[in-house]
Amino acid sequence: MARRRRLIYGNFKMQLGIAATRAWLADVLPVLEPAVGVEAVVFPSFVCLAVAKAAVGGAPLGLGAQDVSPHGEGAYTGDVSASMLREAGCSHVLVAHSERRRYHGEDDELARRKLRAALDSGLRPVYCVGESLEQYDRGEAAAVVAGQVRTGLEGFTPEEVGRVVVAYEPVWAIGTGRSARPEHAAQAAQWIRDEVATMYTREVAKEMPVLYGGSVSPSNVGAYLTQPGVDGVLAGGASQAPETYLGLLEAAR
Ligand code: PGA
Repeated sequence: MARRRRLIYGNFKMQLGIAATRAWLADVLPVLEPAVGVEAVVFPSFVCLAVAKAAVGGAPLGLGAQDVSPHGEGAYTGDVSASMLREAGCSHVLVAHSERRRYHGEDDELARRKLRAALDSGLRPVYCVGESLEQYDRGEAAAVVAGQVRTGLEGFTPEEVGRVVVAYEPVWAIGTGRSARPEHAAQAAQWIRDEVATMYTREVAKEMPVLYGGSVSPSNVGAYLTQPGVDGVLAGGASQAPETYLGLLEAAR
């Protein structure tokens, strides 16, 4: 059986501006080799997307945005629509990252509307889910993650849901250096698939790529990639330095 594709996604957050993104690409693009079975995508800030697209050209590096408006078009000052993101060269978009949930009050209902907008425009959304430390400590992780999946992914066709990537990112692991045990990530991937199987079909659940995110580094990435049901990683800090992002890609080959 062919190995499943490994997804190595990098979230630049609000940490790389235009000059820094250019410099990152100038370091990475010349040494980026097309790797069979590995998908590399980075998520720069909105203002860097057009610059990044011009630099990437036809190189094997996808581009995604960190957020998307739930609205298609209109008087929504400050929003960026999915079709604008397509125009800027994006193929992917993060939806409901825990920092959006935490600092902007985004919930699963809004996530569903953003997922709808992304899918309608042909973007591949990366739906971020994960429990807080309090929820983890109370033993509620499975219920929280299943609930986020149930509400966020409700009401799509199986074909649409088949274009969604789910990223499991426990809040307590993001930017803390306290990465989840690889077995915990695998268990969470199973919770996600069990819920999707209930909502849609087992086949849709099986095919859906599920990522782990939270303090991923070149030294621990291999342990996640070898877990059953974990198709890749969404890395923040480790993606922002060229050498560590290349280290993640190397481990995925
Ligand atoms: P981190 O961030 O790798 O820096 O923990 C992950 C994320 O927020 O997607």
